[in-house]
Amino acid sequence: MKHEKGILIALEGGEGGGKTTQIVRLTTRFKKAGKDVVSVREPGGTVISEQIREVVLSHKNIGMQDTTEVLLFQAARAQIYGEVVIPALKAGKIVLMDRTSDSSVVYQGMVRGFGRKLIEQLNEISTQKTTPDLTILLDVSVKIGLERRNGSGKIDRLDMEAADFHEQVRQAYLSLAKENAHKRWITVNAEQSEDEVEKALWQIISKKLSL
Ligand code: TYD
Repeated sequence: MKHEKGILIALEGGEGGGKTTQIVRLTTRFKKAGKDVVSVREPGGTVISEQIREVVLSHKNIGMQDTTEVLLFQAARAQIYGEVVIPALKAGKIVLMDRTSDSSVVYQGMVRGFGRKLIEQLNEISTQKTTPDLTILLDVSVKIGLERRNGSGKIDRLDMEAADFHEQVRQAYLSLAKENAHKRWITVNAEQSEDEVEKALWQIISKKLSL
């Protein structure tokens, strides 16, 4: 569903691709370009969704059922779309998201095995049928991604999964991006330096938005 004049841009990918760093850099670029930009992360981005994030990612919750995980990510998403994303799009703003509905398609649908169809249906409910205008996959090998992640000292419950899990995540993202390349997905090599990735992202975005 289109929400007025706003533009929704999502960064997606596995661990250690530098999504969070790039969201900060892109936000600065947009502000310098005089654009009204809102940047948020999933799961999280609102007071309620950040509480759900704590539950879904905490190491303490190692006994979490996969179904619980599916629904918590969707619950956090319903809140952020209702409270932040949709109002911002309606107001004509640029919304930059550090992960969104395709993270669930990949992690819960394709890797945990719930299936894409089910997750896409749940995403329709939680996003009120809002889809990104542009989704950029920051692709990095599992080896480099996990090395970066370990170096950051910020390991959550899903990061603790085996390397095989992360490889499946990478392959699922790559196949999704390939399948939808003609629509809204673009893949960027995130093994480059942060400056190079930022430059590549800005080129893609400014072309898309005719900035
Ligand atoms: P986060 O620290 O925000 O991301 P990153 O690891 O990229 O820095 O952690 C979010 C974790 O939650 C990450 O492992 C991916 C996972 N996730 C899902 O499994 N499904 C989802 O729908 C979302 C939004 C995230």
